[in-house]
Order: sequence, then structure tokens, then C-alpha cells
Amino acid sequence: MIELRSDNTAGVAPEILAAVQAANAGSALAYGGDDLTARLQEVVRTVFEHPTARVFPVTSGTAANALALSAATPPWGAVLCHRSAHIITAEGGATSLFGGGAVMQGVDGAHALIEPELLRAALESVRWGDPHESQPSVLSLTLPSDLGTAYRPDQVAELSATAREFGLRTHVDGARVANAVAALGCSPADLTWRAGVDVLSLGATKNGALSAEAIVAFDDRIADELVYRTKRAGHVTSKMRFQSAQVAAYLTDGLWLRLAAHANMRMAELVAGLQPLASYGVRLQERVDVNLAFVELPERAIEAALEAGLLCYRMSPTSVRLVTSWQTTPEDVVVAAAVLREAVSAATR
Ligand SMILES: Cc1ncc(COP(=O)(O)O)c(C=O)c1O
Repeated sequence: MIELRSDNTAGVAPEILAAVQAANAGSALAYGGDDLTARLQEVVRTVFEHPTARVFPVTSGTAANALALSAATPPWGAVLCHRSAHIITAEGGATSLFGGGAVMQGVDGAHALIEPELLRAALESVRWGDPHESQPSVLSLTLPSDLGTAYRPDQVAELSATAREFGLRTHVDGARVANAVAALGCSPADLTWRAGVDVLSLGATKNGALSAEAIVAFDDRIADELVYRTKRAGHVTSKMRFQSAQVAAYLTDGLWLRLAAHANMRMAELVAGLQPLASYGVRLQERVDVNLAFVELPERAIEAALEAGLLCYRMSPTSVRLVTSWQTTPEDVVVAAAVLREAVSAATR
């Protein structure tokens, strides 16, 4: 079996398990009053080069997004995001629940990235001050997007500047932000607060943590709200030190970027391995910036590949999603590419 269904299927990185083990010595104050949570605060400020950033560990990406957004929008607000964004397509309306009824509105753009002109047009068409219409209050950028494409820092800056012109704050859904930072080769600060981001959902689970994610607030007013909102939502866990230890280990000595670069590299190798299939009509449906690829294949080839033990999600009868992780090996990629090549040539014989 070759695992390419999701990076969520991967295990826990040994360095992170070791950090949990180390945190298990002795006792510590509950609810984030422990030394490891204090250390995480310092690690986040160092890694993001932001002296007043505040971090809130939570247990899922959905919670990170819904809580971060609820702290940044009034209940009558609208969160603008790309039409394909996870918050609007795959979180069961969690943002609206936590946001007291705030709605999400989709904006278009090629490659699952919001286009600046379309954002401006959406904002210009709002009846500002009219209580009959939800008032846009936050721009949420999924980075990388659900289709595996990433905004560059200058693109984030342009979008957040437009948003700010209309009084909106900017949130980043960074469930895989490490993969984007690693692929772009930029600093975490340049991709976030220096580009106008007010609050970040910092993913860690997909990239090697054990159900630990964090919200990083670069804006004190958002952080002040999160103190209460995280508690009311049940995310101020009593043994927070085990989550804090994970996220701190993740961000220390570049572990998060090494794990992400590994996943990205495996995907680049896989894409290269599929190149010979172009003559059979096999094509990538989207640009591959990180560790996700969407591939169009003959229906029979997909069936044959699945039967041969390639684990992947079928998006339609003729397309699949392939995802590599920190755990995918170069050998996995060689075998996966061979299985797909064989399946395609058999299907087109
Ligand atoms: C882009 C993105 N954001 C948020 C999430 C939500 O994370 P979780 O499944 O931990 O709630 C996911 C999960 O697949 C995701 O892909």
C-alpha cells in the first residue's frame, strides 16, 4: 500500500513524540499556566519576529479557523474567502456557529487564489451601513489553498491592503502554512504580519503533530477576545503543556520547515515521475506549489491503480487527489509513479 490520501493519515514526527515524552516528567500547572506554554509564547515571537504576538493552542484546524475568525468579526459580519476555501466548503459552518451567525462569502480567482480586482469589486458592491446586508469584516486567505497553490508575500500584502482600505482584517488559514513557507523560501513574518495578516491559524497536525494546532494573533484586540473565546469553546485544555510542547518543538530549529520541505520534495518527485504520462492525456488539473496534486487520468487507470494498492482520494470518475507528507519516502514515490504509469499504459492499450 502506498499512502497518498492525505497528510492527515501520517503519524507523529519522532521529534514531536519526544517532546511529549519530555513534557511528561513531573507535574505542571494546568490550563496553560505551565512553563512549556510560556516557552511556546517566546518561540512563536522569535520565529515570527513579532515581539507581541500571542499564541493559543487548540486541537483542530477547524477550531483554529472558527475561533480566530469569530474573534475578528462581529456577528453581523461577513468573512470573504475564496469559493474553494476549507472554511466555506468543509467545516460544517463552524465559523458561523462560533461567529454568532457571521456568514462566509466566496470570491473567485484562478488557481484557488483570490484575485485582487475581484476582491475590490466584491467590496465595492457592498451596501455599507445597510443592516439588511452582512457587512464584510474579515478577509480569510487559505495558504496554501485547498488545491495546493500558494500566495506569495506580495500577493498577501496586496489583498490585505485592499481589505484594510474597506476596514477588514486579514486571517490566514495556515493548516499547511509550513509547506507554503518552505516552498516560497520566505520568512514566516514576511508571509504573515509583515504582509498585513492580523491572525493566523497555524497548522501542525498535518505536518507531524498529534492533534495540536495554534492560533497566532498579531493584533492584541483579537488576542484579548481569544482569551475568553478559546475557553468558552473548550479549547483551554487542562494539560495544555502537552500541546504547547508539541507546537514549540515543531517550531524549534526549523523542524516544521524540514518536515514540510520533505513532503514538498516528495510531491515534486512524484510530479516528475508522472511526466512521461502526458502523451496519454494524463495532466495536472492545477499548479503544484506544495504537497498536493490533482491529476486527471483515464477512469480505468484509476481503478487499476487503486487495485494495485495506491491509496488516494478520487475526486471524480477521472481525477484523483495525491498528497505527500513528512512520512512519505522516496521509495513510496518511485513505486506510486510506477503503479500509475503501469495503470495508465494498461488502460490505454
Ligand atoms: C486548508 C485546511 N484548513 C483547515 C482544515 C481543518 O483542519 P481539521 O481537520 O484539523 O479541523 C483542513 C483540513 O483538512 C484544511 O485542509
